Amino acid sequence: MCGIVGYIGPREAYPIVIKGLKRLEYRGYDSAGISLINSSGMNVYKKKGKVTDLEEATLGKDISGHIGIGHTRWATHGEPSDRNAHPHTSNDGSLSMIHNGIIENYASIKQELSNKGYQFSSDTDTEVLLNFIQDIKQNNNCSLEEALRIALKRIVGAYCILLIDKNDNNTIIAARKGSPLVIGIGKGEHFLASDATPFIEYTKEVVYVNDYEIAIVRADELILKNLGNEKQTPFITKLDMELAAVEKGGYKHFMLKEIHEQPSTIFDCLRGRLLTHSGEIRMAGIDNNIDKLANANRIVMVACGTSWHAGLIAEYVFEELCRIPVEVEYASEFRYRNPVINEGDVIIAISQSGETADTLVALESAKAKGAFIFGVVNAVGSSIARISHAGAYTHAGPEIGVASTKAFTGQLAVLNMMALKIAKAKGTITEDRYINLMKELEAVPEKVKEILADTSNIKAIAEKYKDAPDALFLGRGYNFPVALEGALKLKEISYIHAEGYPAAEMKHGPIALVTDKLPVVFVATKDSYYEKIVSNVQEIKARKGMVIAVATVGDTVIPSMADDTMFVPDADELIAPLLSTIPLQLLSYYVGVAKGYNVDMPRNLAKSVTVE
Ligand code: M6R
Repeated sequence: MCGIVGYIGPREAYPIVIKGLKRLEYRGYDSAGISLINSSGMNVYKKKGKVTDLEEATLGKDISGHIGIGHTRWATHGEPSDRNAHPHTSNDGSLSMIHNGIIENYASIKQELSNKGYQFSSDTDTEVLLNFIQDIKQNNNCSLEEALRIALKRIVGAYCILLIDKNDNNTIIAARKGSPLVIGIGKGEHFLASDATPFIEYTKEVVYVNDYEIAIVRADELILKNLGNEKQTPFITKLDMELAAVEKGGYKHFMLKEIHEQPSTIFDCLRGRLLTHSGEIRMAGIDNNIDKLANANRIVMVACGTSWHAGLIAEYVFEELCRIPVEVEYASEFRYRNPVINEGDVIIAISQSGETADTLVALESAKAKGAFIFGVVNAVGSSIARISHAGAYTHAGPEIGVASTKAFTGQLAVLNMMALKIAKAKGTITEDRYINLMKELEAVPEKVKEILADTSNIKAIAEKYKDAPDALFLGRGYNFPVALEGALKLKEISYIHAEGYPAAEMKHGPIALVTDKLPVVFVATKDSYYEKIVSNVQEIKARKGMVIAVATVGDTVIPSMADDTMFVPDADELIAPLLSTIPLQLLSYYVGVAKGYNVDMPRNLAKSVTVE
């Protein structure tokens, strides 16, 4: 969703802000803009389209200035257009503002302002908020900071805003509630952004701004205050992220790079935690809360999209190993339906970005009802990580491609270790099974490497089926959520309509879709459901459907029935999803590429969904 970048310091702001906006492109956007202040005043440039379109629009224009704010917009109020792009300018021309989030009560405020004669040149809620601030500043004859504080107390919704005043070329005022904001601390300079990727080469020292905080940022000063005007002590965190992590490193797309990174990201996730030689799994967040986790009456996994699929797989694993009832909830539904939360319930929040608005709000309400929140998050220091009582990072590194790949396998690795630890503490797993599953997990990085060593077969399959208008993905047991994930990946990257189903459900409706034109992808690795899924494949073949199978190396039965097969190494069925998901990631990647689509930034999608 919207990306925000700001700079204040001795360097020229324009190149830093533009480069930063390009780094945030992965979040998804439809227009971009920048405001700069220099000795001759404030210059605002904005353009529908890409950041490169914005750059073109500024050719030959005055782009000087040591203070600048820039924005990539993902449309919510008002279509993508030059006039709706941010930054917006206040009616008196003095203020410029960018905003990520949604102001829910903007309509009544707009009416109030219109009655006073304010004019609006866009359809956005942002322009309403900005003029509201200007109005308060004028009427109260107060500072911009004070006006902002008053305005924020009146508005309902989510925001991360950066605000500048053309009469003050040494201050950026920022505020957040519900949308991320991180401030990079340099020497005599500050960087502001939605995440740290825009400024990673300049500083690794950052402050994550909390909800309801206002930051007054000058070149050599950072003041944090709450909405009650009380100073807060900025908590400085040292980032463990290198520039290479946010660059393509020779790959054509981030998605391909991230798929290929999985042997090392899964290894990094297990490293220092999964100590097979001593039979120990060390995870501080679990160790410190093992009583709560092992004695949970119920576990509720709360997530969206791919992270929700990881939760579904974990449901099977936790119930099998820990004998604790598990429910898996779409965060967006969970938050609105007044769920029953009892003492002893544990909520496991799963999120790559740690900023997904629905998940965040669902957790806030569960927390208020007394639930214990455990976060399985990839983005270090993100909002979900910070509001959780405890958690475990997936350590997959920045995921830039909109399609989640390495974060998903990281989530599975963490959730498997977690289930093993809880099962051990509860005594619901035998020592042999425990050690065996540890070894199985330990072997995953090498097995993923084997799958990735030669992807030409998967590429050829992708090219063969790329023009199919629809596809069905089927699996059973642990592989059912993998089928859902395969369908989601294909939908988002190649725009092919795809449905995922439990293979046995097919006979209750979806089988009516099967013709000789329909590719049916079976996730059919050797597990306890194998014989059943063989029958399901036969049912599709009997109706002339085209079968693409994910099968175990050495299996001859499934490949003899399937039109095309993608192989994965053998693994215990609990661990198998970490492998069977990889060919499906590649399949959708290669279909998307064969169709000529922008696989890193599919249409309409945002990497981090920070609005409801
Ligand atoms: O950052 P999160 O894991 O909370 O994001 C949840 C979903 O938005 C995300 O998984 C989405 O479905 C991806 N585009 C899937 O590839």
